[in-house]
Amino acid sequence: MEDYIKRVKENNTIPEYMREVVCDEMYHGVEVSNLAILIAQEFGEEDKFCDDLSVAGILHDVGKLKLTKYLFSKEDDTLVIEQMKYVRMHSEYSYRILKSAGYDDDISKAVYYHHENFNGSGYPDKLRGRDIPWMSRILRACDVFAALTSNRSYRKAFDVESAVEIMIDEVADYDMKVFLAFQRILHNGKFKGIEQLSHTITPLQMKHLEMFEREALLD
Ligand SMILES: [Fe+2]
Ligand SMILES: [Fe+2]
Repeated sequence: MEDYIKRVKENNTIPEYMREVVCDEMYHGVEVSNLAILIAQEFGEEDKFCDDLSVAGILHDVGKLKLTKYLFSKEDDTLVIEQMKYVRMHSEYSYRILKSAGYDDDISKAVYYHHENFNGSGYPDKLRGRDIPWMSRILRACDVFAALTSNRSYRKAFDVESAVEIMIDEVADYDMKVFLAFQRILHNGKFKGIEQLSHTITPLQMKHLEMFEREALLD
């Protein structure tokens, strides 16, 4: 993974302001993907499901690159308002990118609904419960955990226990079945720390990471 990131950082064809974002999003995608695989395996899901989920995990936020480009091109004070409005569009952008690249429906839909909450408070369609695709329900919990345990420009990463406590405060956002499986893997030795999530990468994940570079270049 480190070698891959190094190559991206030195890729002169990607605009400089994009490179950091691309690398951060790649790491985030890999973390979500690896955690999602652990959960899918916990449920005894078949290989095809695990592979699709792994790809959806890698690419769920690829649409953020489009927003980064768009927001970078704006320089006036509407930026903050625009940012809030457009950040919520990233799942739809990810979906469109995947559809036009020929990804199948299971993967694209999992990505489209990855911000739906189990209690209906999410976006884009405020779906609730089992109306949300199974893959998206797994991704939702993995996404929040990966985000909380990573450094952000405005805060330091939370440790695993604090991240879990924060998630418990909003537990209605998650499918309880997924949340419990997540708790199990944290305690049964399959999860070996947050570093494990970003350091391990499969050839399948590697192949789909290329979409980030592609998207950083395309308009
Ligand atoms: Fe997202
Ligand atoms: Fe995400």
